[in-house]
Amino acid sequence: MTIDAQLQAKITATNTVLKEIEADFSPAGFANSFGAEDMVLMDLICKQTPNIVIFTLDTGRLPAETYALMQQLRLHYDSRIKVYFPDAKDVEQYLVDNGPNAFYDSLELRKRCCAIRKIAPLQRALKNYKVWITGQRRDQALSRTELAISEWDEGNQLQKFNPLNDWSNDDVWAYLRHHEVPYNALHDQHFPSIGCAPCTRSVTMGEDIRSGRWWWENAEGKECGLHPIKRKG
Ligand code: ADX
Ligand code: SF4
Repeated sequence: MTIDAQLQAKITATNTVLKEIEADFSPAGFANSFGAEDMVLMDLICKQTPNIVIFTLDTGRLPAETYALMQQLRLHYDSRIKVYFPDAKDVEQYLVDNGPNAFYDSLELRKRCCAIRKIAPLQRALKNYKVWITGQRRDQALSRTELAISEWDEGNQLQKFNPLNDWSNDDVWAYLRHHEVPYNALHDQHFPSIGCAPCTRSVTMGEDIRSGRWWWENAEGKECGLHPIKRKG
């Protein structure tokens, strides 16, 4: 697969942003969920800006395919991924109080699970970095159509960079194929967006790319709190 001039320009621009972040805001942390766009960033960072720290939030409920990819990446890249895990006591208490799959019972219990397994570890992670970087893109969701390349993260009181904000899904896949970057096997089984195993399912043709996430909930409630939706007005 070839990389056209337009995509090459985006790659160059993204590398420039990453180099500026590495030079000006060290230590910077890249939040890697191992989805397709995050694998683009991981590849660029490992090759061009190795001083940016790559970290992941292992919720303990990730799909087997995501763990397989994490294992594979240890051999593929000469860099290590920092892992933040949920607080064991909080998980234990949640399991005693509510059971292992209580996220299906109510929005409140789903958000509580995300708070314990994702948000608290993210907050712990972000204490170590001057800025953080995500793989969010504008065309992933209606809530992301105005996503800026750099934004103030009010909740975490930290600057947040989204260097792939103007990359399309096709750009991401052209990059991954051209550079033979490893990716999550679930993408080949119609999972365009991948989170925790019990809260992610495959989508059918024509469905929104995030429709497989928390599919039993209303579209408006579908956020885990990592990237709160900015409401206007
Ligand atoms: S979410 O808010 O619905 O969970 P999404 O899966 O679209 O987010 O991922 C958007 C970005 O958030 C990713 O590109 C990545 O930077 C970050 N992210 C999401 N989940 C994780 C995770 N488990 N560990 C690290 N970063 C994550
Ligand atoms: Fe819990 Fe599901 Fe949120 Fe993962 S996505 S932290 S399993 S509610």
